[in-house]
Amino acid sequence: MNVFLTGASGLVGAAVARAAARRGHRVVGVVGSYAGQIEGVATKLALDLTDEAAISAAVLEAFPDAIFNCAAVSVPEACETDPARAQVLNVALPAALARLAHHLSARFVHVSSEQVFNGTRATPYAVGDVPSPINLYGRQKLESERAVQAAAAKFAATIRAPLLMGDSLGGRRSTHERLFADWMAGRPAKLYTDEWRQPCTAENLAEVIVELGERRELCGVFHWAGAELLSRHALGLRIREHFKLTDRQAPILPLTRAETPAVAKQRQPCLALDLAPLAGKLKTRPQTIAEQLDDLKVPPPCRSWYFAQQ
Ligand SMILES: NC(=O)c1ccc[n+]([C@@H]2O[C@H](COP(=O)([O-])OP(=O)(O)OC[C@H]3O[C@@H](n4cnc5c(N)ncnc54)[C@H](OP(=O)(O)O)[C@@H]3O)[C@@H](O)[C@H]2O)c1
Repeated sequence: MNVFLTGASGLVGAAVARAAARRGHRVVGVVGSYAGQIEGVATKLALDLTDEAAISAAVLEAFPDAIFNCAAVSVPEACETDPARAQVLNVALPAALARLAHHLSARFVHVSSEQVFNGTRATPYAVGDVPSPINLYGRQKLESERAVQAAAAKFAATIRAPLLMGDSLGGRRSTHERLFADWMAGRPAKLYTDEWRQPCTAENLAEVIVELGERRELCGVFHWAGAELLSRHALGLRIREHFKLTDRQAPILPLTRAETPAVAKQRQPCLALDLAPLAGKLKTRPQTIAEQLDDLKVPPPCRSWYFAQQ
């Protein structure tokens, strides 16, 4: 397939480019500010994705069989800081791409988030459960799901993704990369003992996105995550142990939500996802935490610091 991939320089998009190329697809990868090479991208296109006319022109020029949307304002705090820009990238962009996919009869895969739920219950959320976002990011993701369905119901699959592990191009985006940044700066990583997540790696999610891209019969909203639910604090301890760092080299400060009520208002206590029906339909499997850790590399910006600890 010819694939038009937005967010090709992001944590998920870069993994999608690699996964798509491995499966024999040709990728036109759209970046914003990223200037480096991206493995798996055959043609790199620098484009401002807030410019709808430019997006249309680029998609029509590429004439893709599939469009994968991995561009977004993906950090909830950044949505609060600049809501108008976030609205364009998180809602208007997927809506425009879905209209183009419909126009071209192209497959469309869009990435949403577990944060469409409020996370106040401990049992897994099913795809059909009523969404209940508690922050702007979650509300925008929900609006994007509805806009995509309205524009391209017969062509689109939207995947709600969890907290992501993995190796980003710049080494600063994913869960373990953020922990390393704290440790390298001599700061303890502050991690909640009472916030529960079901992480997966960007690489594993990318396999799902590409598989979904190939499976045109799978339309609608789906869930994907890892095979285990654990607290952010427990995840941090597993990451530290995996990289054989000590408490002195890589301090972790346990926090509870009650200690930071203003922050807790914007964050969900427990986001567990029921992976049915997708997990039964794909070749890609949800991974255990041990499998996810096995894939992680020391983030490039922290390599000198890390090797000095050994
Ligand atoms: N990260 C997570 O934990 C997580 C969890 C659940 C769901 N998700 C969702 O997964 C998807 C991918 O997230 P991610 O973590 O991979 O995001 P990311 O690492 O922050 O990457 C964002 C991408 O969007 C591009 N972009 C942003 N503004 C742009 C603009 N104006 N023009 C062109 N490109 C622009 C960036 O390009 P440049 O860097 O080149 O400017 C980058 O490639 C998003 O929909 C996100 O909401 C992420």
